[in-house]
Amino acid sequence: MTTLLLQKIAAQLRREIEAHNRAYYELDAPTIPDSAYDALFRELQELEAAYPELVTPDSPTQRVGGRPLAQFSPVTHAVPMLSIQTETKTDSNGAEHFDARIRRELELADAVEVEYLAELKFDGLAVNLCYVDGVLTQGATRGDGVTGEDVTQNLKTIRDIPLRLTENAPPLLEARGEVYMRRDDLVRYNEQALTRGEKLLVNPRNGAAGSIRQLDPNIARKRPLKFFAYGVGATDGWNLPATQKELLDALAAFGLPVCSRQTVARGWRELADFHERIGKERARIPFDIDGVVYKVNSLALQERLGFRTREPRWAVAHKYPAEEAETKILAIDVQIGRTGALTPVAKLHPVFVGGVTVSNATLHNEEEVRRKDVRVGDTVIVRRAGDVIPEVVAVVLDARPMRAGDDLFANVPLHPPFQLPETCPQCESSVVREEEGTIARCSGGLICPAQTRGALLHFASRRAMDIEGIGDKVVDQLIKAGLVKTPADLYALTAPALVSLERMGEKSAENLIYAIEKSRKTTLARFIFALGIRNVGESTARDLARYFGNLAALQNADAAALENIPDIGSIVAESIVDFFTETHNLDEIARFIKVGVHWEEREGAVSATVGLFSGKVFVLTGTLPNLKREDAKELIEAAGGKVSGSVSKKTNYVVAGEEAGSKLDRARELSIAILDEAGLLQLLRGENP
Ligand code: IVH
Repeated sequence: MTTLLLQKIAAQLRREIEAHNRAYYELDAPTIPDSAYDALFRELQELEAAYPELVTPDSPTQRVGGRPLAQFSPVTHAVPMLSIQTETKTDSNGAEHFDARIRRELELADAVEVEYLAELKFDGLAVNLCYVDGVLTQGATRGDGVTGEDVTQNLKTIRDIPLRLTENAPPLLEARGEVYMRRDDLVRYNEQALTRGEKLLVNPRNGAAGSIRQLDPNIARKRPLKFFAYGVGATDGWNLPATQKELLDALAAFGLPVCSRQTVARGWRELADFHERIGKERARIPFDIDGVVYKVNSLALQERLGFRTREPRWAVAHKYPAEEAETKILAIDVQIGRTGALTPVAKLHPVFVGGVTVSNATLHNEEEVRRKDVRVGDTVIVRRAGDVIPEVVAVVLDARPMRAGDDLFANVPLHPPFQLPETCPQCESSVVREEEGTIARCSGGLICPAQTRGALLHFASRRAMDIEGIGDKVVDQLIKAGLVKTPADLYALTAPALVSLERMGEKSAENLIYAIEKSRKTTLARFIFALGIRNVGESTARDLARYFGNLAALQNADAAALENIPDIGSIVAESIVDFFTETHNLDEIARFIKVGVHWEEREGAVSATVGLFSGKVFVLTGTLPNLKREDAKELIEAAGGKVSGSVSKKTNYVVAGEEAGSKLDRARELSIAILDEAGLLQLLRGENP
């Protein structure tokens, strides 16, 4: 390629990156997902690395981030705020790669292991807090690393940030860290913003960055912002500790919030372990992280390693696959669930996000589609976090296809706003609105093939009646051939009837009949779950079975009796009562019993199993130091206790770990006994914690 052409490409990349920077930093309206921005930036970096003569002094690669807004006063950082190099290898090799580089630069012998501090990489906004004689005098954004913006007023609204440090703090201390937002706080904030008709926050990172960069501090005040310290800038009158770990401990001792999820790691294997462990916990960590950060622990070694232009040599960010990506909406389908609820589903141009290729994303309900104004043809940001089903976060409005031409319709969106159909696309029954219009439901009941299909699949599923061999294809065939209309019809099937179905051999027909036969003997909990009562999931079904012991007692229970059970509130109670007042449901149950579906019954409503924790209700919150939540739950249940999801007057104990949130507050409010992990284990041993 000619130099001229390369120069043109570089200039184009720079213009694009600058435009995204402006949209992100100044307008608080990102135009592309972070991963796409990173890719553009990397492309320019690589081009400039290959052809150094292309580098211009104003290239975005020559500064650290966005630039200060004109209206905030500029702040020159006494010590530049650096960036962190990103380890490109996202697998466990990243740790090995970084460790190898550090050892090479320090010229270490093979036997010597380097000690690191592994921290989280918080996804928010970096700030510098200047404390003089223990008093917060100035807070600034990072800006371009050299000059930031004075955002003291906004930072002072964050309750996490102490206005005064403890007595032992040095006369000058610049604390550096990240302003962030918890995901649950963002959801709550958006719910309220919606009722007030205010602008919604796209994600926690933009929520944090956007709030701090508002001129009016009353905006930041209303946002649920938090802060974690992870380093220092200028200091005076203080002998810095020997390690990063001790530095963080000192910051905590001065009264600054420091994240407890960090670990001293020796050698790359322990770094890789941390990367893996945090990767698994990521979805359960209450705030967004985009990776972990490894820092050489010894500050003396940090000094020896020194800096490059933009970043220190002693730290690296080891990222996780991006949870957000951009793609196009090919169509908006409407799916009908087991209970008839209509769910709009976006058909996407396949995109790799959160470690898998995604081609469908739920749009939840009509109101949600309206609020986000998602239309066919739109470019959208899709998010897939952990094992959560992918969802459409926001529309990139700039990319919406518009009508061309110069007539009246020019510049009008090509596609109209989305609307759910008035009749069911499967059975043409009318669609009814429930719960203030948020839920649209097909009124067809069991004449709707989609609902029949859903009911059959649910009934036969592993956690319900566990009938092996009844999957999507067989169910579709059975319905089409008119062999089954309701789950009870399954028990009237015969092998010869099944053989008439396409691709059904004699052997598979017999196997299927055998699996159906076998399912006649079941448990009350499974049967209750299999009935598909609205709002009754597997664990509620288990509670009901344990509590009532027999079906008749459950059938006769009124809402008040049901609400006596921990975890069952008015909505679930009402769903159960409604279910058992429908004659067609009672008929169906009678048919099951007639064809020999049976389970063990117990007389009368009985309390929980006998055990150390009989009748005791526990709530788990936060992260315990050793036990996984499932383990703790299992231990409690094995002792006859019950684990509930929310704190109420019925709760006996709240077991709280790190990062325990509102549940702990609620427990304190209600004066409920609070245990830590050690306390729970003592209680399990029959001791008094
Ligand atoms: S230390 C050593 N530690 O990442 C360089 N930064 O790309 C100074 N960040 O702007 C930063 N978590 O906002 C450090 N535990 C952590 C961090 C962290 C998030 C951010 C920080 C910085 C960006 C660098």
